[in-house]
Amino acid sequence: MPIQAFILDLDGVLTDTAEYHFRAWKRLADEEGVPFDRRANEELRGVSRRRSLELLLGQRVADYSEEQMEEMMDRKNGYYQSFLESITGDDLLPGARELIDGLKRRGLRIAIGSASKNTRIVLGKLGITEAFDGIADGHSVTRAKPAPDVFIHAAGQLGVPAVACVVVEDAASGVEAALTAGMLTVGIGPQERVGNAHFRYNSTEDTDLNEILGC
Ligand code: BG6
Ligand code: MG
Repeated sequence: MPIQAFILDLDGVLTDTAEYHFRAWKRLADEEGVPFDRRANEELRGVSRRRSLELLLGQRVADYSEEQMEEMMDRKNGYYQSFLESITGDDLLPGARELIDGLKRRGLRIAIGSASKNTRIVLGKLGITEAFDGIADGHSVTRAKPAPDVFIHAAGQLGVPAVACVVVEDAASGVEAALTAGMLTVGIGPQERVGNAHFRYNSTEDTDLNEILGC
């Protein structure tokens, strides 16, 4: 079946919010006296807010009540959202706008498939909300990546069967989710992170639509 749609991850594919996530988690970790560094932050790429907190706390997770977990997630999100205030269209990653334009020129439908509950805020700040025919985010589904749900949801919004969708992802959990969804998968990043994808490019800028579409 010919490809009809692309589902793009947001953080790490269209914009680099990882640094803001890191600073927000780092502030929370410091306040809670939990060791946390940039290397540990890499493990949180593409991972839901709750799972990120669980990974950050490690064995200490057992020391906290559900109420305390909720409070910490809210606190981190408050820090994160204050960083988001400064985002503009200049924060699109190199090649992101060209990717969106290239897909539109080819008449393909496009959706966002992101784990983030801040997706609509980020898209608005970047000024690209209107470019998408569907937006599936952390509010759309209960099971986070590596479950395929967010991509299946996006395909449903577009009215396109999974086998006619391509997913572009920068996280190992997202690549796994896309493969489980039965979608052609494009990894953005190093081999050790996204090497299971059907196609892999070092950056969004390097993405070759002709190669992916077999033109
Ligand atoms: C993903 C990010 O897109 O969204 C993760 O890569 C983040 O780092 C996850 O934890 C959830 O984001 P949010 O905005 O709902 O806390
Ligand atoms: Mg990502």
